[in-house]
Order: sequence, then C-alpha cells, then structure tokens
Amino acid sequence: MNTADKVETVRWVGDVDGQLVLIDQTLLPVEFREITCGTLEEVWEAIKVLRVRGAPAIGIAAAYGVCLGLQPYAAADHDSFFDRLDEVVKYLGESRPTAVNLFWALRRMEKLAASLRQSASIREIRLALLDEARTIHEEDRRMCHAIGRHGADLLTHGQGVLTHCNAGGLATAEYGTALSVFFTAQDQGKQVHVFVDETRPLLQGSRLTAWELKQRGITATLICDSMAAQVMREGKVQAVITGADRIAANGDSANKIGTYSVAVLARAHGIPFYIAAPSSTFDLSIASGAEIPIEERASDEITHGFGKPTAPEGVAVYNPAFDVTPAELIKAIITERGVIDPVATETIAACLGEPG
Ligand code: MRU
Repeated sequence: MNTADKVETVRWVGDVDGQLVLIDQTLLPVEFREITCGTLEEVWEAIKVLRVRGAPAIGIAAAYGVCLGLQPYAAADHDSFFDRLDEVVKYLGESRPTAVNLFWALRRMEKLAASLRQSASIREIRLALLDEARTIHEEDRRMCHAIGRHGADLLTHGQGVLTHCNAGGLATAEYGTALSVFFTAQDQGKQVHVFVDETRPLLQGSRLTAWELKQRGITATLICDSMAAQVMREGKVQAVITGADRIAANGDSANKIGTYSVAVLARAHGIPFYIAAPSSTFDLSIASGAEIPIEERASDEITHGFGKPTAPEGVAVYNPAFDVTPAELIKAIITERGVIDPVATETIAACLGEPG
C-alpha cells in the first residue's frame, strides 16, 4: 500500500473538546511519527519549529489551534471568551510571519465568531468555529486537486521539471500545490522526471519532497541547490514549479529561500518558471513583494545543521527563510481557479477579485 495515500498532515480527533494530531515533519524521512497537540501552546510550538509547515498546512493548523485555545473558556461569559479569542489569534499570528495563509485562516475564524457574538451561546460559537476550521481544511484539499488539474495541462510526457522546497501533501491538507501538478500529470499517464533541490538549510526538498515523490512512484533526482544551473544547462529541465507563501497583488511571490535564484536561472536558460498556489496564498492588500515580511530564523540552522557543527564558533550568520521572486520572472501562477498568464496586477485581480 502507498503510504502517501494514508498521510494526513493535520487531523482533528474528537468533538469540540478534541485534539489536533500532526505528522512531526522534523523527523522525516527517518521516522514517521504523529504527535498530538492538546493545547494552544503546543500548536504554536509545532508551527514555530516546523513540525507542521508549508503555507496552507500552517493555516489549517492555526484554525484548529484557535479551537484548542478556546477550550478552557467553555464556561466563560461572552466578553471573556472574545477577549481570549483576540489573545489566541494574536499569539498564533506571532508564530511565523511570512505565509499569509496563517493570517487568512485566523481572520476567517475571527470573522465567523464575530458574526455570532450577539446571537449564539459560547458552546454554539465553539461548535461553529470547529466547523469553520474543518471547512478551511476541506477547501484546501479541493483547491490542491484543482491546482493539479490546471497545472498538469502545462506539462508534457517525458519532461524534466525542477522544484524547490516542499509544496506537497505535507505542506497542505492533501496532494500539495506544485507536487499536485506532478501527481495529476502522472494520473493522466504523463511521466515527468522531477529534479528536487535539497533546499538548504532545513532540507525540505530532500527530506520531504523526495520522500513524497518516492511514496507516489514519481521518478525523481535529488540535487544540491547549487546544482540547478548545471542541470538546466545540460537540458534536463523543461519547467520549474514551486509553491508560494505569499503572493502580492502584482504577482511578486515569496517562497522558500533559494526560489528567487532558481527563477533567475530559469530565465537565463529560457525555461518557464511557474508558481502553484491556492487563492488563500494571495495577499491583495499589498501592492508588491517589497511589503512581504521575511522570516529570519536562528543562526544554528546554518552553523549546526541537524546538530553537527559546520562553521567556526561565533561566525556571523544571516538566515532569511524566504525570498521574493519578482512577477516578471514568473511565467504563470497556477491557482485552483485557473492559470494566471501573464502575471500582472490586472490578470490577478481578474482571476481572484479586487482586494477585500
Ligand atoms: O519554511 P517552510 O517549510 O514552511 O516553507 C515552505 C515553503 O516555502 C513552501 O514552498 C510554501 O509554503 C508552499 S507549500 C504548498
């Protein structure tokens, strides 16, 4: 049996007093272990240290995190309950800054609760919030499959494609965004060969993407990030597809550090560079990528990769976790609503609607 078909990145167990179960992605591919988060703080920690990661999955986990954070307030009055909701949303929003799906999901939860404040009991609001988290989860599942269908049309049998980081089932409710395109192409009988950037410093490519592709029987070759130019020059790659963490109104797209370099290389070699992302990854409130907050992570991710010292003690380190690929380097953005091509403020607005 295919393990990937059984993989549930995030799942809620039980009723409104239930718990959140996550695959601990920091342990993959060596160990497949699920962890249970029974408190808000455990969800925050899981997001912070990347036990759950990838923009859509972070949003889903945070939505369930809101439900957990409100459990101790089941008997509270409305004012205390809503004060607590504000606190929970603020706290979860401080876990990671770049992926807009986190804030999108939190806003949805807040809006739903606010709409019920005057008319519903605390128990009814808690039940409605759990339903909303489940809806966010289910919608993501459907969006990923739709992205796969739109994206697969862009690939032809026998192509080499390159991806960076992990935009697979582990980063979403199921199936992924960039990887969904490869999975769908395979389902349609088109074989593609995926070159997987290992994705320094945390190796989401080698640990997670290579694992997912292997589980689903897609032929893949792992390369170090620094080898992408060489495989392009050798003619092994005909398209690049990555996910995104936040896409500005003009199409500038933040994704895992190193994506921008890949897009520049793709342009230099005349290879189309695609972003695959659901509408929940667009932030139409910002005009360009210059406004996207870039997470900076701890220096030991670089100096002590996976525990082993690889740099002299005390060396200065800069560790931005994301970069922004300018829209002009992106051939098209594959969304659940269709393919945005060319990428520009007008075409994005036409596909997604004006900023809300
Ligand atoms: O730091 P991570 O592992 O959360 O970064 C993830 C990425 O950059 C993904 O490419 C992005 O979130 C898209 S996931 C469908």
